[in-house]
Amino acid sequence: MGYFLIEPASIDLLNDISINGDYSMKKGDIMQIKHMIILIIILFLMYCIIHNQKRPYIMHNHILSAIGNTPLVRLPFNTPAAIYAKLEYLNPGGSIKDRSALYMIEHAEKSGDLQPGGTIIDASSGNYGISLAMIGAAKGYKVIITTSEKISQEKLQTMRAYGAEVIVCPIAASDDYNSYISLAKRLQVSTPNSFFPNQYFNPVNAQAHHDLTGAEIWEQTNGTITHFFAAAGTGGTVAGVGRYLKDKNPNIKIIALDSNNSLYSTCGNPKPYKVEGMGIDFYSDIINYDNNDIIEEIIPVSDEDAFAMLKNLARNYGFLVGLTSGAIAWGAHHYLPKLKDGDVAVMIFGDSGRAYLTKGVY
Ligand SMILES: Cc1ncc(COP(=O)(O)O)c(C=O)c1O
Repeated sequence: MGYFLIEPASIDLLNDISINGDYSMKKGDIMQIKHMIILIIILFLMYCIIHNQKRPYIMHNHILSAIGNTPLVRLPFNTPAAIYAKLEYLNPGGSIKDRSALYMIEHAEKSGDLQPGGTIIDASSGNYGISLAMIGAAKGYKVIITTSEKISQEKLQTMRAYGAEVIVCPIAASDDYNSYISLAKRLQVSTPNSFFPNQYFNPVNAQAHHDLTGAEIWEQTNGTITHFFAAAGTGGTVAGVGRYLKDKNPNIKIIALDSNNSLYSTCGNPKPYKVEGMGIDFYSDIINYDNNDIIEEIIPVSDEDAFAMLKNLARNYGFLVGLTSGAIAWGAHHYLPKLKDGDVAVMIFGDSGRAYLTKGVY
């Protein structure tokens, strides 16, 4: 018989109990066991709550709440360090831009800059326009996107599939009257009840990456991240994630990738380049590339190097990723000699190669 024979009266009187008649146990011991059992139950409940919150199999009530929580996947590069790609192309709109677009729209709704029935207008090289188009469709806003001839057919058709109006402009300097950025500004002025999120100059862009992307990466790596690699377009990702990580640990290195033909990397003599979404071609308050305490290094990448890496990633590693990811992975690969055992590097794979199949780079 393996059960306790407990007689309450004898506990009170004698301050002990008998177990199968073989052992005796003090009242204090029983209390300790009770406390242990309660503690185990509490710990078990806490585990269930935390485990449930972090479960990847979450049910969402809205398409927009599925933005974020993208996985980190290790790349078997030949290095003693651990290198992870953050698969941002698994966001519902297919890119990292879902995060900043949603943040800017919800900020404008709260501030009253965007009213029900309003029109969202902005300039985009593609992904951001797709995010706005998806958000507009989900929230009931009209969306007008201006873009340049450089855009891939896949991205153009995707925006239109979400019901956005897309206007394709000639490739021109951002301050040129004919540029897609100039047209977006003019359209906003002439369209009643419209909102211009202005991702290139809106600080909420970087705030989104601070609050969402940066916090997520820190948590996912359990604070072990030592290096972060991202392409610089508007600068929102490097500025926001970089600020978050630097505040957590100032030793983390933030590395930005730029097109070798951009305004910044050519010291003011830009030339055309093919990678979409990356390239420091004008200056804004989002980040001062010449003077900041966030970015450790800006690595210029050529189209050829980015495209060669894209093929490598798809054929040898199974990552079919977009143009900036090729540039970022090339930059990270170039940086490998500086990484050592124990380092944990995270790079952004911001969109999918499926958005560029007609470009013939794979
Ligand atoms: C696909 C893609 N587009 C654009 C960017 C640039 O982002 P941002 O405009 O925040 O500088 C990135 C950053 O890694 C990216 O991966």
